[in-house]
Amino acid sequence: MLSSPAVAGFFRDDAGNLTCDGVPLASIAEGAGTPVYVYSRALVEENYLRFDRALSAVPHLVCYATKANSNLAVLRALAALGAGADVVSGGELRAAVESGIPPGRIVFSGVGKTDEEIRFGVGLGLLAFNAESRREIEKIDEAAAALGKTARVALRVNPDIDPRSHPYISTGLKHNKFGIDIHEALDSYEGARRLSHVRMTGIQAHIGSQIGDPAPLAETARELALLASQLLERGFALETLDVGGGIGIGESGSAALSPEEYARAVLAPLHGLPLTILVEPGRAIVGAAGALVTRVLYRKANGGKEFVIVDAGMNDLLRPPLYGAIHPIESVAPPTGRPLVADVVGPICETSDFFARDRALPEIQEGDLLAILDSGAYGFAMSSNYNFRNRAAEVLVQSNGFEIVRRRETFEDLVRLERE
Ligand code: LLP
Repeated sequence: MLSSPAVAGFFRDDAGNLTCDGVPLASIAEGAGTPVYVYSRALVEENYLRFDRALSAVPHLVCYATKANSNLAVLRALAALGAGADVVSGGELRAAVESGIPPGRIVFSGVGKTDEEIRFGVGLGLLAFNAESRREIEKIDEAAAALGKTARVALRVNPDIDPRSHPYISTGLKHNKFGIDIHEALDSYEGARRLSHVRMTGIQAHIGSQIGDPAPLAETARELALLASQLLERGFALETLDVGGGIGIGESGSAALSPEEYARAVLAPLHGLPLTILVEPGRAIVGAAGALVTRVLYRKANGGKEFVIVDAGMNDLLRPPLYGAIHPIESVAPPTGRPLVADVVGPICETSDFFARDRALPEIQEGDLLAILDSGAYGFAMSSNYNFRNRAAEVLVQSNGFEIVRRRETFEDLVRLERE
C-alpha cells in the first residue's frame, strides 16, 4: 500500500527545513549520524506504480533493476506491490527472492554469469535468463539438463543504437560487450532449437542508462518488434519482449523522461504483438527517492577557490567523479546569508573526491548539514570502503517516521574477513 504523506520525496516544510516525506532530515541525521542515505518509501512506490499504470494497456511486468539500489527494505517495498526484478548477479538474485519477489517474475541479465549462478537461477525457475552469448545458452541448457529442468531464455540483442548518454553507461552500441549482434539473432535462435533443456521464450535489449530522449528507446522497441515478428513467423513460442531500462531522471542537465512519455514511446512500435512487455527501470524508480545527507567538517580557501569539506566521500557516492554527474546539493536548514561559489569535496585523498565543482550554494558553516539529492540510484550500491572508511547507514522513511534499514559499518565489520 502507498503510505500517503502530502508530497512524496524531498521538500521543504513551512519553516524551510528540508524533509523526506515530511520527516526533517536534521532529525534523521541526529538519529542515524552522517553520512546517511535517506530513502522515501512513498516515492519509490509512486514511481513504480506510475510505470505499472503507464503500461496498463498491454500485458506487462515492471522488472525493477535491483543494481540501482538493492537495499532489502527497498526490495521488500517493491515486492509488496507485485514488482518483478532484473538481477545481474547471484547476490542480487538471492536478495530479490529473499525480499519476496517470486522467481517467476525475475529476469537474470549479465555478460558473465558463472556456472554456479546459472545453476542457482535454473533451480529457482526464473521468468528468463537474458542470455548474452550463444555459449551462455549452451551452458544454461547443460545446467538445466543436469537438474532435470527446462530453463526459459531470452536473447539479449545488441541493436547498435546510440542512447546519446554518457559513454560509460551506453550498452547498445555494436562495439560494447553486451548482447548478441541483432543481425546474428535469428541464427542464434535457430541454433538453440537443438537444445532440449532451454525454451527460447523472449527477446531483450538494453541500450544504456540515464536516457532523456525517447527516440533511441522507441527505435530499440521497433527493432525488437521486427525481430519478434520474424521469430513468431518461424514458429518460436515467444512470450516476452523486454525493452530494458535506462529511463533518465533529468540529472546532469539532461532531460527527464516521465514513465508516461516513456511508455508512449516504446509501446507504439509494439502494438499488436501477442507478447508480455517487460521493462527494467532502475534509476527512474529509486533515483529521486534518495538523498545522501552529509555534515560540513570544514570551510577552506585554497588558491582563490572556496572548498566545503563534508564527511561523505567518493567512496559513498562515486557518480560525480566517475561520470561527471551533477547532483543538486541543498542545505538541510533554511538557506540563509550570502551565497557562495565553492567545490563540495570529501575527506578522501584524491582530487577526484568531489560532489560539485564551482557550484553556487547558500552560505554554509562548519557543522551544517547538506543533502546531495537524486542519490537513491547507484549511490550506496556503488559505494566502497576506500580509505578504510565505514560505509554509510541507510534509512527508509515510511509511515511518517524513519527506520535505519542498514546500520553504519564499523571497523570490526571492515576487518572481519581478514586473517589475524
Ligand atoms: N537493465 C539492464 C540490463 C541494465 O544493465 C541496467 C543498468 C538497467 C536495466 C537499469 O538501468 P536504469 O533504468 O537504472 O538506467 N552506474 C551508472 C548506471 C549504470 C547502469 C547499468 N545498467 C550510473 O550511476 O549512472
